[in-house]
Amino acid sequence: MDNLKTNKFLAAFLLAGLLAMGGGKIAEILVPDKELAENAYPIEVKEVAAGGHSATSPDKGPEPILALLASADVQSGMKLAKKCTACHEFSMDGKNKTGPMLWNIVDANKGMKDGFKYSEALVGMGGKWDYEALNAFLYKPKAYIKGTKMNFAGLKKPTDRANMIAYLRSLAETPVALPTQEQIAAENSGTN
Ligand code: HEC
Repeated sequence: MDNLKTNKFLAAFLLAGLLAMGGGKIAEILVPDKELAENAYPIEVKEVAAGGHSATSPDKGPEPILALLASADVQSGMKLAKKCTACHEFSMDGKNKTGPMLWNIVDANKGMKDGFKYSEALVGMGGKWDYEALNAFLYKPKAYIKGTKMNFAGLKKPTDRANMIAYLRSLAETPVALPTQEQIAAENSGTN
């Protein structure tokens, strides 16, 4: 009799133990997203915080430069071009070096200088080197064309880019027209 009682007791004890263990498992299965919900929340908070900080982000360029072109200083642009001459030649009969020759580059199709082996990224982009494309590229080449092989940090000052682009414009038999008032207005309002 005593033995039977002990066995019953042990059985009840084991069953309770199993239920306790199983109960935990069952709870996990029933509320599987409890942990997820807890993790997701701080991530959301982080994004909101990052958004709030973006107003103070240091990288807000490239600023518009079309309005600066008419009064830009070609001589200063020529001096600035010393930053480029390690890789580029600028004369009409200039040769390709590390970078392509840059005579007649304003409004030229991208990646079309004879005999230069461009990156796929640049060729793939297509379009022309109009003033705005040059502004964006010279501000930060690797941001404008991801994968470009032009290893140049960029010209961060708007007046430097305007002077540089005015110099590039002068490197042609017939320099292309300066931007119109409409183009300047559109650039300033960010609609083109
Ligand atoms: C360290 C070398 C290097 C320097 C410095 C450099 N470039 Fe370049 N540049 C290149 C290379 C390489 C390419 C071709 C990029 C590609 O194929 O992705 C290029 C491409 C270009 C193009 C596009 C040409 C085309 O035919 O599509 C322009 C415009 C240009 N550079 C302007 C400049 C100017 C202006 C400067 C100076 C402010 C400058 N680069 C400084 C190496 C350089």
